[in-house]
Amino acid sequence: VYQKYYSHFLKANAGIQHYCAHSHHYWPDVTLEAQIQYWHDSAKWVDDKWENFFAEVLPQVQTQIAHHLNLRNKSSMVFAPNTHELVYRLISSVADKSKRTRILTTDSEFYSFDRQINRWSELEGVEVVKVPTEPFATFTERFSQAMSEGAGWDLIFFSQVFFNSGFVCDWQTILKNIPTRGAICMDGYHGFMAIPTDLSPFEGRLFYVSGGYKYAQGGEGACFMVVPQDFKGRPLNTGWFAEIGNLEKAKDGQVAYPSGAQRLIGSTMDFTALYRMRASLELFAQQKIEVFNIHHHVQDQQKLILKHLNDLKIEQLSTENLVPLDWSQRGHFLTFQMKDEEQTQSFVRFAKSNKIWFDSRGSRLRLGLGLYHNGGFDLGVLKSWR
Ligand SMILES: Cc1ncc(COP(=O)(O)O)c(C=O)c1O
Repeated sequence: VYQKYYSHFLKANAGIQHYCAHSHHYWPDVTLEAQIQYWHDSAKWVDDKWENFFAEVLPQVQTQIAHHLNLRNKSSMVFAPNTHELVYRLISSVADKSKRTRILTTDSEFYSFDRQINRWSELEGVEVVKVPTEPFATFTERFSQAMSEGAGWDLIFFSQVFFNSGFVCDWQTILKNIPTRGAICMDGYHGFMAIPTDLSPFEGRLFYVSGGYKYAQGGEGACFMVVPQDFKGRPLNTGWFAEIGNLEKAKDGQVAYPSGAQRLIGSTMDFTALYRMRASLELFAQQKIEVFNIHHHVQDQQKLILKHLNDLKIEQLSTENLVPLDWSQRGHFLTFQMKDEEQTQSFVRFAKSNKIWFDSRGSRLRLGLGLYHNGGFDLGVLKSWR
């Protein structure tokens, strides 16, 4: 029923079984018109295009995102080409050279944050504690416990859905006890437009970061962060866009910032990706496709493909090799535990040579499904892998 929205990508990949929707999601056809529209708007408005982007395009995308996250205050949201820029600015606004900076996170954050925080922890006075996500059954309890321990945290950072397992943590329980001190940020890149997410109980206290490359289906270049309205941080990394807003009065000699989310804004970016994201979210709105419709569709497809794999008796991709998760804790990709990284990569290569696309993280193989899947799985050839 949904495949008709993806005719360009499906046609361009005829004969290929693409199971990387969790990573490189196909784009709906409407994004092609959006991409061209960006060009025409640039030609029409030239220098004045920026005014239009800020006055019209951004608020429209903010409204769409706020709808899917059930946020009342849509304007407390800032955009950047990638999440790294946003998390970097957030870290730089909590790290204070004059005192010890304490950061709590997990051992399974995406590299944009993890690599950065590893580098940051080389600095004197920065302490980073990483809670292991496994065993999953006790993660919520262990992470919540760590949140409440000790002298408090300047930043708490964790994923809603972990990229190396697909584990959807019990984020509602974790967020029940947001400490009054410090910032807390949830990385929702594998959650947004995949897992029904109501952020309204945490609005005004939670930072939430995500983007368009995966389930929002607008492609790379459009990331966003939802920010508590009264955020007063002063990121070290600051672009000139902040000057466009009304600057708050600063202390003598200090750089002034606008209020709230726009304190985290950067500099000139290509808005094409935001046009594409607006178009795909507009398509969902027109077709009355909500996140729970997408989620149900993907879960049905996951169950179907798992049955197909079990029927085929492909050892590597059997239910026994699935990273053990309850269906209510599974994101939009199935994760299979292989022997080691080498075996996983070799399997991915073999599959690709047979026009079947998966991806992997370390010794785990990921199989992601989306709206453009509709049964018809044909994975028998994988039985011949040695
Ligand atoms: C959990 C998570 N966060 C963030 C990102 C993307 O980060 P960036 O926008 O910095 O490339 C990914 C991409 O795969 C991800 O899986």
